[in-house]
Amino acid sequence: MFFKTNWLPRLTSRNCLLYKSLFIKNSFIRSSSSSSSSQSNHNESNNESLLLKEIVKQIQFTGPLTVNDYMRLALTHPKYGFYMRQDVFGEKGHFITSPEISQIFGELIAIWIMYQWQQYSNGRQLDIIELGPGRGTLSADIARSMAQFNQTRQSLNDFHLHLIEISPFLQSIQHRNLCDNEKYIIDNNNRKSSKTKYGQSIHWYQSIDQLNQSKRQSNRFPIFIANEFFDAFPIHKFIKNSKQQKWNELLIDYDEQNRRLRWIQARNETPMLKLLSLNGHFDRYSSSNIEHIEYSPTIFVTIDKIIDYIEQQSIENDNNDDISGCILICDYGFDDDNKDNHQKDRDTFRAYYQHKQCDPLLNPGMADLTADVDFASIRHHVLNRPKRMLNKMIHCFGAIEQRQFLSQMGIGFRLKQLLQQQQSFNNNQHPDNKNYSNIQKELISSARILMDEMEMGIRFKFMAIFIGNEKIKIEKPVGFLANE
Ligand SMILES: C[S@@+](CC[C@H](N)C(=O)[O-])C[C@H]1O[C@@H](n2cnc3c(N)ncnc32)[C@H](O)[C@@H]1O
Repeated sequence: MFFKTNWLPRLTSRNCLLYKSLFIKNSFIRSSSSSSSSQSNHNESNNESLLLKEIVKQIQFTGPLTVNDYMRLALTHPKYGFYMRQDVFGEKGHFITSPEISQIFGELIAIWIMYQWQQYSNGRQLDIIELGPGRGTLSADIARSMAQFNQTRQSLNDFHLHLIEISPFLQSIQHRNLCDNEKYIIDNNNRKSSKTKYGQSIHWYQSIDQLNQSKRQSNRFPIFIANEFFDAFPIHKFIKNSKQQKWNELLIDYDEQNRRLRWIQARNETPMLKLLSLNGHFDRYSSSNIEHIEYSPTIFVTIDKIIDYIEQQSIENDNNDDISGCILICDYGFDDDNKDNHQKDRDTFRAYYQHKQCDPLLNPGMADLTADVDFASIRHHVLNRPKRMLNKMIHCFGAIEQRQFLSQMGIGFRLKQLLQQQQSFNNNQHPDNKNYSNIQKELISSARILMDEMEMGIRFKFMAIFIGNEKIKIEKPVGFLANE
């Protein structure tokens, strides 16, 4: 099933040239050990009680928590938050992401970036800004692929890599994985800066606000990449009381008797419920049978800040650019505007501990918490956003399934290339060898996880947002052409 021919990319001649020059002979094959997780630096059982104690104290003083507040504390509490104190990725961690599964993912994202840069930058230099880079694996695969692209090597390798990471612990893992032994400095923008092992400049920020406040250069073309970033953003949860035809917010309370956290429905209108009722948010669901919804205000605030950044960069570039920059969002999620996608329940709030799903209210800070991204809401938000710059227009493409995006970007072609390369290596070692080596089997099974409809092929989606001059008609970008 894996080798179905419709997996092969629709390669144009330009596309082929890119692949050939990017993936020169003897290209790097990542060893599986790079996806294993390092040890936690903390006594976890100790943390468990400490964050729970803090949450219980907060509930006792200020009342039940919104899921939004609970999720923010559990994931990013400065001391006990899930991401703040441990390496949570890979087989030994709690979950695994696309770039950790296969190097091909990052290589194809690098090609996507190159396309946009070649097509729209008008000679401006590239800024790649990764949001929530985890262990830095995606950025490392992008940086390596860019350095390998030998045609316009010099100008391309001049790009700057900007990593936005809230966790100082993960920042240090990213530095180790991307820069080897290269030291970092704190520069006059108060950011950690260094050079990647491939020679590109790299900078770290704790938040998008820090990026927005840092002094910028003119003549730059920013591309933001958010892989499994927004599904870690806090959400509010609402449930419909079918009898009363009324929405209520779900809150998290402490059950004193049984000494554990529990779900309750707010008795009164909460501020978020009031806000969403006022702006007609629930009307979207009035004719559907959906009875449970989730809403993440922080996603919209963050996307607005990214668009502000790109627009501000355009002013810095004299505001005469056709396309000022773009954002690629890759995440688990759903798109309501795609009618096939309607389902009754939108309860997607989940917890993962050591690759198993568990109760999100048990052990806050110990397990990953995640909620699917509502791509239709993102589209509605960016397309209806009040204009800050009159001559700018927003274009939104997708959400498209991961299997469509990667297939169009050439996953079949690249997999074949890596398998052949490994085969000739095997043959040099053992001329009679006709069998696939473990490395080849791993390449195949990891590509299958990305593409298979029962794994990440359908549930994981891609959306691209471009900010450009309103007079420019922009075509669907590569990766988004298939069956949208
Ligand atoms: C699910 S992980 C994704 C990791 C990586 N993108 C990957 O694909 O392997 C979420 C990442 O976002 C970071 N993060 C979460 N909330 C953040 C925030 N508000 N600001 C910046 N980084 C954040 C986490 O520390 C982590 O690196």
